[in-house]
Amino acid sequence: MSVMTAVTIKSKDELAIMREAGRRNAEVRAILRDAVRPGVTGLELDRLAKDEIAKRGAEPTFVGYAPGGRPPYPGAICYSVNDELVHGIPGKRALQEGDIVSIDLGVTYRGYVSDAAFTCAVGDVPEETAELLRVTEASLWAGIDQARVGNYLGDISAAIGAWGERAGYGIIAEYGGHGVGREMHEPPHVLNFGRPGVGHRLKAGMVLALEPMFALGNPDTEEMSDHWTVRMRDGSLSAHFEETIAITEDGPEVLTRIG
Ligand code: MF3
Ligand code: CO
Repeated sequence: MSVMTAVTIKSKDELAIMREAGRRNAEVRAILRDAVRPGVTGLELDRLAKDEIAKRGAEPTFVGYAPGGRPPYPGAICYSVNDELVHGIPGKRALQEGDIVSIDLGVTYRGYVSDAAFTCAVGDVPEETAELLRVTEASLWAGIDQARVGNYLGDISAAIGAWGERAGYGIIAEYGGHGVGREMHEPPHVLNFGRPGVGHRLKAGMVLALEPMFALGNPDTEEMSDHWTVRMRDGSLSAHFEETIAITEDGPEVLTRIG
């Protein structure tokens, strides 16, 4: 199904604010990345995220998010370990050596959202796991490279999907990227696979969150009884990376880039 919904175009002034939101998101994500180690809990990382967001005069986008009658999301971060794909709720469980964890962070600044995520290894992981992380991140940057004026949304999707396909990974179909602005989720939906040359024509001023998700096994997912956590049905390891980017006349600008 391909629905051609209107995509908002941000003005120069709006982009300036979104750049500020994105910078704060990157700063806080860098702090979270440094805090990941065996023994740390999701709740501790969530507390850190909330404090660091507040210090920067911003708000945690995800707190209280409640689409379609779901229980309001409690965290500033999503914290998804191993076979959990996305939207895991930070809890008391401590990370262990050999885990992988996806940390997804939303930062709202002056009414505009930035949305970005990374997956990292806790200590040493097997080569197959390290490769899953590298390939999933590489697919994100390949997608970003296609985010150019005159290209099509399908060019982004196809570039991301090609990496997953080449590696023989499960490419998750139920979730994908999205437009970002005053709302965290704006049109269009961005699939993590597809055909080049189809879908929306990309224009300067569009802002998108690209978020590839791949698994070592089968791509089927299930939602857990907390109504949020999404895990792989077959229990296989999964990875997720996300950046918020603006499409400009000079090429893609990564608003949430760390460093
Ligand atoms: N990057 C995630 C997404 O776009 C953020 C979800 S936040 C939550 O779906 F609050 F819904 F968990
Ligand atoms: Co997102």
